[in-house]
Amino acid sequence: MSNTFSNKFVADEKSFALLQDTMWGPNGIRQAEELASHFTITKDMKILDLGCGMGLSSLYLVQAYDADVFATDLFADPTENYERFRSLGVADKIVPMILDATQPLPFAKHYFDVIFSVGAYNMFGDNEEMLPKLISYVKKGGYIAVAFPGLKYEFGDNVPSEMQPFWEAPDVARCVRGIEWWKNLFSKAEGIEIITIGEMACHDIAWEEYLASIDPSGEGKWDLDMMAAEDGKYFNTIQLIAKVI
Ligand SMILES: C[S@@+](CC[C@H](N)C(=O)[O-])C[C@H]1O[C@@H](n2cnc3c(N)ncnc32)[C@H](O)[C@@H]1O
Repeated sequence: MSNTFSNKFVADEKSFALLQDTMWGPNGIRQAEELASHFTITKDMKILDLGCGMGLSSLYLVQAYDADVFATDLFADPTENYERFRSLGVADKIVPMILDATQPLPFAKHYFDVIFSVGAYNMFGDNEEMLPKLISYVKKGGYIAVAFPGLKYEFGDNVPSEMQPFWEAPDVARCVRGIEWWKNLFSKAEGIEIITIGEMACHDIAWEEYLASIDPSGEGKWDLDMMAAEDGKYFNTIQLIAKVI
């Protein structure tokens, strides 16, 4: 597992405080580092970061590779992200934007070297249209790299009893699917060579670091309760890395 950057980041007092304030799910820096370790990113690349939340994965792509990043999200405030990127000295490398991944993207086709996404793809990519659409925005020889929460096996109608209260929440049954289900969906897309589809090694530590940052009296309690009920039995983090051919 590739974790040198993440370990240093977590060990640094200021970066750790930033993480505590901005994690919107399992540690996005760790997921980004592992995802990026499967292919080569260089300084001259243009990267679309889809569903960037408060920008941790975008920050990683700039700090680790000095790449040019479009930090896009449907709900995160781009002005707040811009202020954060400015305070971190990376604003000249990142364009913060509102963007709905389910809509036609406001970019030229074949524009990006990489489309990158951490912790968000399962919310909008659970259909046969999304991957082919994203492929059309990437240059030949470029990459699509996405990491997102999934299941070790597909529940179907047999949701384990301890998970049923969580599966009643809107969109959970639609968005949280088994690894075989995702492999089957991804294998239908044309125009890519799949480099890896599999479980991520950083799953446990990324969740541990996120859960430790949650205030149990706030909104994150749902995640604390869900992960306590799950107890390491069902969840994984799934990654797809594909080269556009
Ligand atoms: C669990 S958060 C992860 C955020 C961030 N990547 C991280 O790891 O901290 C999921 C993100 O997906 C974004 N999102 C959900 N649906 C989206 C869509 N249709 N287009 C773009 N972003 C979307 C949400 O706004 C949210 O920021």
